[in-house]
Amino acid sequence: MEKMSQAQIAIVAGTGIADLFNVKQFEEFNTSYGPSSLGRLRIGSRDVIILLRHGIGYTIPPHRINYRANIFSLKESGVKSIFASSAVGSMRRSMKPGDLVLVDQVVDFTKGRSQTYFDGESGKVVFTDVTNPYSDHLRHVILKATKKLHVKMHQKGTYLCTEGPRFETAGEIRLFRKLGCDVVGMTGCPEVFLARELGMDYASIAIVTNWAAGIAQKVTHEEVLEMMREKGPIAKLIIEEAISSIGEK
Ligand code: HPA
Repeated sequence: MEKMSQAQIAIVAGTGIADLFNVKQFEEFNTSYGPSSLGRLRIGSRDVIILLRHGIGYTIPPHRINYRANIFSLKESGVKSIFASSAVGSMRRSMKPGDLVLVDQVVDFTKGRSQTYFDGESGKVVFTDVTNPYSDHLRHVILKATKKLHVKMHQKGTYLCTEGPRFETAGEIRLFRKLGCDVVGMTGCPEVFLARELGMDYASIAIVTNWAAGIAQKVTHEEVLEMMREKGPIAKLIIEEAISSIGEK
C-alpha cells in the first residue's frame, strides 16, 4: 500500500464504533511487525485514517491484536494524532453504563503482549516517559467537542487494562477498585504506550458498557455490544467534531 502521507490524524475504532464510519475499502499495510489494515475517510477538510482495532468484521480478540503493527503502520502513514475509542466496564458508582469517560491514566495488567518497539534489537536501551500517557492537547480538543455537542463526559478516569479475553472475577474488580482504578477494558495497553514510543499524540474515549464483574450479576458480551449500539453514534460524533475542530486551525 502506498503511504497515506497526507493524513496526520487517525481513528483507532474499538468495539461497536468500527462499522459506524462505514468505510468500505481497506488496504493492507505491511510493517516489520506484521500486516495492518487501514482505511481512509474524510472528516470536514481532513483526510483521516481509520484502523479497526479488532480487524475487519470484528474477528481479532484483544489479546491477539497486533498492536505493534497497527501503531507502526499509522506512524509510517504520517499520523501525528490518534483518537481511540474503547468499551469498558465501570468500577465506580459515579460512572454508569452509558457514560463516556475521557481517561487520563492507565494501569497495565496485561501479560502476554509485545509491549514495545525498544526490544534491544537495535543495540540501544530506551526508556520512555509515560507519566501522563494521554495527550493533554487531544483531551482538550475532545472536551471542547463534547461541550459544543452538549454531551456529558467524565473528564478524568483511570483505565485498567486486563489481558482478556475473559471478563474479570469479582475479586479482581475489588482489587482494581482498591488500586484506584475506575474503568476496566482489554485493549488500551500497549496501544497507548506504543503511540508514545513513536512520538504520536493519543487520546481515548472510554464508553461504559456495563458494571464491572461483581457489581452487577454477570457480565456478558451481548450487553457490551448492546450499549455500544446505543452510545457508539455519540462517541463517533464527538470524534468527528474533535477532528473537524483541529482542521479549523
Ligand atoms: N471488562 C473488561 N473489558 C470490558 C468490559 C469489562 O467489564 N466491558 C467492556 N470491555
